[in-house]
Amino acid sequence: MKILIINGPNLNKLGKRSPTIYGIKSLNEIESDLNKLSNKFGIQLDFYQSNTEGSIVDFIQSNSSKAQGIIINPGALTHYGLSLADALMDIQIPIIEVHLSNIYKREEWRKKSVVAPISIGQISGLGPIGYSFALQFLYEYLERGDTS
Ligand code: DQA
Repeated sequence: MKILIINGPNLNKLGKRSPTIYGIKSLNEIESDLNKLSNKFGIQLDFYQSNTEGSIVDFIQSNSSKAQGIIINPGALTHYGLSLADALMDIQIPIIEVHLSNIYKREEWRKKSVVAPISIGQISGLGPIGYSFALQFLYEYLERGDTS
């Protein structure tokens, strides 16, 4: 089983970027935590981060047919990334949307997600562990076909 972990613009700066909002863990540290969890589950993770919407679209187009699921934090593309939303709409594998911060507790413009209607669900506001919860959910969902 292979899962794609995709992070959008500015998430390469995690750890240094607004730590009171996004926490002190770097993206590398988050990815290494996810790798440990995936080893326990015996699944393969492919990580990708880009500050460019088109590059993320290219990555999804090239890699989604070889994967069983996607965990994505689209960064600010969450709120307006329509070509990203179109690319995600066009694939047949389950998507979980993750945000470190609670996007509903912040500025008005962050409350809309163009990715949410395409996702199975969203985790928002739990910090870095949100990615791990998403991975655990996706593993169980894919293994058993449900989460009950
Ligand atoms: C974010 C929330 C977005 O509004 C913001 O643009 C980000 C990070 C989060 O993880 O909380 O870059 O997706």
